[in-house]
Amino acid sequence: MTISNWRETRLSRLLATRLPVMATGLHWLSNADYVAAAVNSGMMSFITAASFADLQALRDEIQRCRELVGGRNFGVNVSMLPKLLPGDRTEEVMALILEERIAVVETSGRDPSAYVAPLKASGCKVIHKVPQLRHALKAEAAGVDAVTLVGAECGGHPGESPVGTLVQGVLAARALRIPFALGGGIASGEQIIALLALGADGVAIGTHFLTAEEIPAHEDYKQRLIDAQAGDTTLIMASVRNTMRVLRNETTETVHTLEREGVNDIQQLLPHVRGILGRAAYISGDWQQGALSVGQGVGLATRMAPLADLIAEFEQQADHALQRLCP
Ligand SMILES: Cc1cc2nc3c(=O)[nH]c(=O)nc-3n(C[C@H](O)[C@H](O)[C@H](O)COP(=O)(O)O)c2cc1C
Repeated sequence: MTISNWRETRLSRLLATRLPVMATGLHWLSNADYVAAAVNSGMMSFITAASFADLQALRDEIQRCRELVGGRNFGVNVSMLPKLLPGDRTEEVMALILEERIAVVETSGRDPSAYVAPLKASGCKVIHKVPQLRHALKAEAAGVDAVTLVGAECGGHPGESPVGTLVQGVLAARALRIPFALGGGIASGEQIIALLALGADGVAIGTHFLTAEEIPAHEDYKQRLIDAQAGDTTLIMASVRNTMRVLRNETTETVHTLEREGVNDIQQLLPHVRGILGRAAYISGDWQQGALSVGQGVGLATRMAPLADLIAEFEQQADHALQRLCP
């Protein structure tokens, strides 16, 4: 690897991006403005389908994004619940993705096997995101184009037996044949070089970009992220086998108390953790309320800035790290 070519990997070639970096799906937050800012800065990014109340609203957002990216490719994130439940919209969302000829799909949650063949036949690249290597291997066998493995540090869902990103990386490099990205705690350019050195083909970032200007959330929430230390996140909902890493706040205190008291029924936790409360917090800035996905990389957030500036800083840090290694 030389200083000039860390940017070109199997993942950047697969996605036809300038950088081997993905700004992955963020519920309520990765809208057309955010995704377009990421794509126009050289990354791949994903509109989160679950954030839209109906399919027409998702279609409108895709159209808005198309106008903002000037012909560049962008993706849609399809987060599936662990089990198929009544009211699940995955089939309809996948049909819309095919109709709209979306370039890349990021799936997470359930096994995506059923959707891989039709998506690939239409020319869409499929990247499945998982917290455990065994699921990544299953996705590889199902024919996905690439996988993203997230480690214990990540915001959102680190799985039920979280494994740190560095350990995941070595395991993945030894076992997978298809291109893979690593996520979980990536909040500096130096880490990109470290993970490429492990054998990863790229990185996936959520938390570090939450303070981007394009993120549609209140400044008080972003300021809290800037003030937070790396230890200000916590894990909730292991009791219902739906572990989430979130910002420590009044809601997590309440949920921890309930879990200590032996609550292990999602229905009893839902009044505190339902997604709509998180959305209200993003709008009002009252970060004490709701289960707000945030990873340990929050300890490295220093400023609100355009997404293009945040990624430009990463590139400089990555170049310097490589110079240090290969003067
Ligand atoms: C606020 C927030 C919302 C997220 N929403 C989703 C989502 O809707 N679907 C999904 O697949 N992943 C979601 N994630 C996970 C991210 O796409 C990504 O995997 C994760 O943030 C990477 O770890 P990091 O936070 O340490 O960068 C979310 C993460 C955050 C921080």
